[in-house]
Amino acid sequence: MTQSTVESKSKKDINNGKTPAKETILSPRFYTTDFEAMENMDLSINEEELEAICEEFRKDYNRHHFVRNSEFEGAAEKLDPETRELFVDFLEGSCTSEFSGFLLYKELSKRIKDKNPLLAECFAHMARDEARHAGFLNKSMSDFGLQLDLGFLTANKDYTYFPPRSIFYATYLSEKIGYWRYIAIYKHLEKNPDSKIFPLFNYFENWCQDENRHGDFFDALMKAQPRTVKSLSQKITIGGSTFTHPLFDYFHRFRYFLNNLPLTSKLWSRFFLLAVFATMYARDLGIKKDFYSSLGLDARDYDQFVINKTNETAARVFPVVMDVYDESFYGRLDKIVENNKVLSDIANSDGNKLSKTLKKLPTYLSNGYQLLRLYLLKPLDSKDFQPSIR
Ligand SMILES: [Fe+2]
Ligand SMILES: [Fe+2]
Repeated sequence: MTQSTVESKSKKDINNGKTPAKETILSPRFYTTDFEAMENMDLSINEEELEAICEEFRKDYNRHHFVRNSEFEGAAEKLDPETRELFVDFLEGSCTSEFSGFLLYKELSKRIKDKNPLLAECFAHMARDEARHAGFLNKSMSDFGLQLDLGFLTANKDYTYFPPRSIFYATYLSEKIGYWRYIAIYKHLEKNPDSKIFPLFNYFENWCQDENRHGDFFDALMKAQPRTVKSLSQKITIGGSTFTHPLFDYFHRFRYFLNNLPLTSKLWSRFFLLAVFATMYARDLGIKKDFYSSLGLDARDYDQFVINKTNETAARVFPVVMDVYDESFYGRLDKIVENNKVLSDIANSDGNKLSKTLKKLPTYLSNGYQLLRLYLLKPLDSKDFQPSIR
């Protein structure tokens, strides 16, 4: 059973009308990785750029930015019950994903600090930023009499293991997509101040610059990384047991050799771009659609803008990017959104579990087919793409 991670300020009055957060495939995840490989990474190829980025982090531009002003007083009471619920869900999802970034960066900085101090320092600065973001969101939740129990979340959430390379792809994309999401909302609300339902959005412009810098850090890290490691691990873990032998080092070297082939990078780039874009699109046009409407945004237009921009940005570091301009691209994503609606209608209908599963099967297959076709869609070569922004 999923337990609630939300509790009200007064512990006697748990939830205060807020339904517990359900764990779904689309909810933010917590990650863990191979810390040994991380600490052994050879950054010499791009050390200068990483040092420059670290220097930017040290300046801590947003040190005084996340301070609440009087605009927050009484702002929560102004929301109608429906908007309030949508907004609280948004706060909860955002706070969880900021906090998930904090946990990963914090753990990384702690585990690699002896062998890889530059990298550890960068991760510590990013953890500082993410803690600030999560804390600021949590403060807004307390305006609604709710608070995310971050300690509970840390201890009880499942951690998904990703090897370092996948962590780079996934976090790079989530930082850059975060940047475009925040700036798009900020710019929209700047033009439409009547839709600014909460003063939190005033902070998005500087906030997104943090995410942009985090993304640039992973950009530099991936550029430093092709030769990846100084020495590889002599350990191997099979089914929870760890074995040590010098020969395993060759196995890891072979694995890294395969990982660093240009073809492998291209396949992974397509995989992560598609996974991140499809997840966001399905969530925003599904359960989050009404939230965007409450800000006067059309979720489809908003997501397509964010995806196109993130895709352009990713062309600076990924060898290939998605052909988001092919008309089948959004057509297939829309079909997935439609399918998800069918799936949730079946889930909410009467009937036993088996009959529901059987009813869902063709729709699952259709989703799988759409994703496969999207994955196989001929990608755009980053070299020929958007030279103006490179
Ligand atoms: Fe953040
Ligand atoms: Fe970030």
